[in-house]
Amino acid sequence: MTILIFMNISNFLTLYKIKNQLMAGLTSSTIGRKYAMAFSALFLLVFLVMHLSVNMLSVFSKGAFDEASYFMGYNPLVQFLMQPILIFAVFFHFIMGFVLEIKNRKARPVKYLVNGANANSTWMSRNMIYSGLVVLAFLVLHMYDFWAHEMSYKYFPGGGDSQDIERFWIELHEKFADPIRVAAYVVAFVLLGLHLAHGFQSSFQSIGARHPKYTPFIKALGTWYSILIPLGFVFVAVFHFVTQSHH
Ligand code: HEM
Repeated sequence: MTILIFMNISNFLTLYKIKNQLMAGLTSSTIGRKYAMAFSALFLLVFLVMHLSVNMLSVFSKGAFDEASYFMGYNPLVQFLMQPILIFAVFFHFIMGFVLEIKNRKARPVKYLVNGANANSTWMSRNMIYSGLVVLAFLVLHMYDFWAHEMSYKYFPGGGDSQDIERFWIELHEKFADPIRVAAYVVAFVLLGLHLAHGFQSSFQSIGARHPKYTPFIKALGTWYSILIPLGFVFVAVFHFVTQSHH
């Protein structure tokens, strides 16, 4: 009996220790940070597929795009649950990205004299912070272009008629009349592709999804994803540019 009680207490203590280590680990250890980073990345990878799917509608049908945009813009679940989660994920991802980069630099303040990096890492993996910074700069422009306008339209007095459900396609189409904006977007999409080329498979590695049987598949999927998704965005931007009626 005493032994049993003792075992239970020690079990409980061990569990308590593990729980504490896990909680502390998630926020303070490099492994924890990598996990958290990877989860936010996986979430963003799913978001990009959804975002591109809606954008693609604008190529095939104005009506379908307007309807989808209206749904995304006015459905309370999307607006007040998904959107805050997305904003959190985006902020979390880039702040954590900086933190990891700084920690990594501190861990190796002196650069390797002979950097045989090409032999064991790719250019993409070594430059995630730079490709990420370009995507971040793009996001600032992008939020200014679409999101800020939409917020002021919807939530500020005199912003516009919220019942106008046919405005979305025209707004998007008109944005891409400007060749400089189209060029800036395309450059950002190329860098996004490079970011994803390493990021996709890396996020799976970080959560421990590594297996001789599945890793090659994940890598191949990552390569396709990082080519097709940015190419899709390029296609949408260029499509609207070349189909402008006034040039
Ligand atoms: C041709 C390419 C793209 C087009 C035409 C486009 C268009 C749009 C539009 C119309 C919105 C909706 C704004 C609103 O009504 O709230 C939006 C939101 C957004 N886009 Fe894009 N987008 C493109 C590429 C991208 C890429 C590559 C990313 C990420 C790297 C991205 C990230 C976002 C984010 C984070 C939002 C905010 C979603 C929200 O919370 O409302 N977009 N985009």
